[in-house]
Amino acid sequence: MTAEHPRLKDVYAHPVGRDAIDRVLLQLGRSPRWVTNPLVANLPLRAAARLARPVLGGDITSSLLDLLADHGDGHKASPRADADDRPWWNRAVFYQVYPRSFADSDGDGVGDLRGLLARLDHLADLGVDCVWLSPIFDSPNEDMGYDVRDYRAVMAEMGTLADLDELIAGCHARGMRIILDLVVNHTSAEHPWFRAAVADPEGPYGSYYHLRRGRPGEDGSGPPPNNWASFFGGSAWRWLPQAQRWALHLFAPGQMDLNWEEPRVRAEVAQIVRWWRARGIDGFRLDVINYISKRPGLPDGNEAIGTLMQFPGIEHYFFGPRLHEHLRELRTDGFTRSPDDPVPMSTARSRRADGALGEPLPPDPIGVMVGETPGVGVELTRLLAGTGRGELDMVFNFDVLDGPGRTRWDDYRYDLSYLKEHYLRSLERLGGDAQLALFLDNHDNPRMLSKVLGDRDQDPSLRSALAKALVTIQLMLPGTPFLYQGQEIAAIDQRFTSASELHDVESLNRLTRLRADGLTEADAVARVLPGARDHARVPMRWEPGPTTGFTTGTPWQPGREESVGFTVAEQESDQGSVLNHVRRLIALRRAEPALVDGGMTALARSSRRYFGWLRTLPGTAETWLIEVNLTDRTIRRPRGLPDAEVALGSPSLERGATMAPYECLVARVRAG
Ligand code: GLC
Ligand code: MG
Repeated sequence: MTAEHPRLKDVYAHPVGRDAIDRVLLQLGRSPRWVTNPLVANLPLRAAARLARPVLGGDITSSLLDLLADHGDGHKASPRADADDRPWWNRAVFYQVYPRSFADSDGDGVGDLRGLLARLDHLADLGVDCVWLSPIFDSPNEDMGYDVRDYRAVMAEMGTLADLDELIAGCHARGMRIILDLVVNHTSAEHPWFRAAVADPEGPYGSYYHLRRGRPGEDGSGPPPNNWASFFGGSAWRWLPQAQRWALHLFAPGQMDLNWEEPRVRAEVAQIVRWWRARGIDGFRLDVINYISKRPGLPDGNEAIGTLMQFPGIEHYFFGPRLHEHLRELRTDGFTRSPDDPVPMSTARSRRADGALGEPLPPDPIGVMVGETPGVGVELTRLLAGTGRGELDMVFNFDVLDGPGRTRWDDYRYDLSYLKEHYLRSLERLGGDAQLALFLDNHDNPRMLSKVLGDRDQDPSLRSALAKALVTIQLMLPGTPFLYQGQEIAAIDQRFTSASELHDVESLNRLTRLRADGLTEADAVARVLPGARDHARVPMRWEPGPTTGFTTGTPWQPGREESVGFTVAEQESDQGSVLNHVRRLIALRRAEPALVDGGMTALARSSRRYFGWLRTLPGTAETWLIEVNLTDRTIRRPRGLPDAEVALGSPSLERGATMAPYECLVARVRAG
């Protein structure tokens, strides 16, 4: 953006400006039409900011302009994906395992690699193409492995490197790839680099982290270097008496932010990636990877933005000045195979359209890079994961998870018309420039089923119907689906009632703060539960019984659920189960290229209740119809839909004038 006196529309025309403004509007629960209205759009930015001041509580103009200036020419359009040259992950179904809660082999109550190994057939039978494991590296577990102490060792309670080698080979033998979680925005405070930095801040490791001297006369009781807040509460700085320095931690006090300005840090990370690639790991999900580049000097965050987004400082690192550069370098130096690289210990076997296994595939030229990118909207998705940009392959856009004006901590019912609108708008705007990562559940969020249904998530028929509808959307829209463990059996939130049932550092810190503000324990728990990450971290329900087939011991984080019919074993034998619905959907994807590679046309675009679309393979007459009732009521189908033969549907294969609550189907359109 070059205009000397920019208008609001100039800012909105810049991808970073557009995503930032859209994010603010979403947070305020306002429609984007608010800025595209010509009267508003033509206002000089400063005038617009003055008008918005009462709503925003301050002036955000200069922060916005700084952000845009950082990305002056870093937003060239990217070429569209070439349909014939799609990488494997374009067609894949990913499945996220939270290893601590998946399967425990040794009865210590903690899930482990051998437990997972014994359950790999569950994933292969589901039809999964790539398994992603949440952290398994050696860690003191202040944030459940998202605080790594050794990037080349397995956490003792999860097993050994030999177990992991076996697991990699086990996935590959079943035609599945496997990726791990790379947590390199920060390390554990127990990582040898950090220990060395503390012991000698002027030594070789001092520059690995963001260490700052105290102000004169300061002993750690004085103000920290800036006003940035930690995502887990309080200041993002902690005083290190031994080093006489402040250290930055955007997350827990034991998660120390690495300084990516230091070239040796970047080289270390690239080496870690190469090391795992040689062991057969097929890529990584990169934890909060959009936070790695921080604005030099680490200036104070804008107060209005801080209040609005709840985390002062965020505009200085959620899309930092050198982000693109760092990602490109990491892709080249870490993820890209060079001719003299060792051949990986194993590679995945190919899988045919009917699911049968073939020969092991040649090593991928580039390991897949899936970015976890909180705060990144549609335009930044294109910048970070656009085809041909040489940065990430896909990113997670979290805007789908909560409705307008809502945050994860609100107790509210999610309206699925927003989900439809979000996906359609994202797909329309991306127009094939980047692949959408489609996810609804993960280890950081309450279950989508419960967000939509509230207390009615206990109703077995509504619960199953909605679970099938959601997974149909996820698996049939253009994009790469990421299922999270438990989704295939319609996992819901837990009826936790006391603080002692929660284990997550974020929940516990929040409880402590609310208690300090004077809330009773019951009130504090009630305020934490809607957003608690603990809901999605309880053991997988393999079979009925108190320990759900997860362990023979005492689970580290017991679940509360006892509902009948929602375990893998029970659903296995029920043809109408969610589990079998997911299997059929994935098998259909594999068999019918139109459902994966086909273009998409939305039907009844403006309906808030009906979500329907066509998938057509260019150059063929093959067209498929997908329909979902987004409500808990019977609705009428829109008029003028094509005639189609239902291949898969719930609750039935009939296609009449009406649709049952959360009914969903996939049908082949009849020619003529
Ligand atoms: C990501 C992880 C989350 C973790 C945080 C800090 O958001 O998904 O679990 O707490 O990063 O590493
Ligand atoms: Mg165990």
